[in-house]
Amino acid sequence: MRKLAAGNWKMNGTAGSVVELQALIAAHPMPGCEMLICPPATLVQQMASVARGSALRIGGQDCHPKPSGAHTGDVSAPMLRDAGASHVIVGHSERRADHGETDALVRAKAEAALAAGLVAVVCIGETEGERDAGRTLAVVGSQLDGSLPAGATAANLVVAYEPVWAIGTGRTPTLAEIAEVHEFLRNRLQALIGAEARGVRLLYGGSVKPSNAAEIFAVPQVDGALVGGASLKAADFGAIVAALSA
Ligand code: 13P
Repeated sequence: MRKLAAGNWKMNGTAGSVVELQALIAAHPMPGCEMLICPPATLVQQMASVARGSALRIGGQDCHPKPSGAHTGDVSAPMLRDAGASHVIVGHSERRADHGETDALVRAKAEAALAAGLVAVVCIGETEGERDAGRTLAVVGSQLDGSLPAGATAANLVVAYEPVWAIGTGRTPTLAEIAEVHEFLRNRLQALIGAEARGVRLLYGGSVKPSNAAEIFAVPQVDGALVGGASLKAADFGAIVAALSA
């Protein structure tokens, strides 16, 4: 399977940020992995048009479960697709925390993504308290069970394991801890969707940066990364792309 370097810009970026995208495309015309940037919704259309014809894919950061309707402020999966997106992140821990998103809602969003022809990047991960209580596998297992869209395949699903306490903190689990969770998730996926599970990209996310990317990518069952802060600059994200392509 081709590995995936995915960047989540979160609530960062304005029209001027297109220069970072152009630099990334110029530096990695034929990367050895898939490259995805998920800018804020305001930039999806512009960035998709800049990326057209290149190896870079553009995604959204969230979508509503419905395709259209009276939902002020929301963006639907067909709208993202229409704007040129190929992927959408659903269930990021910041949305679960800031907007009270449940597994059931995340699943509905992921199903909306699939229905619109987008790849769903489903995020799961334990809090620090849950890890300290020894509940990591129980938590991520039940999040996976509850958030997985019906009809998931290797082609339309990516799962991102992002420990909440590792996001934006500079802290990461040990390599053995990442290996334990990814192995567990692969097996759980196998139980849920059978042989397709082998081809589903399992991303690690949480304080991935150029200096730790190579060692994280060497962990078995890690098929790429979902990168926050270090995806905002082409040089940093490019270094992560290079580590994944090696
Ligand atoms: P950081 O890479 O900034 O820790 O963020 C990770 C993340 O939340 C990506 O979705």
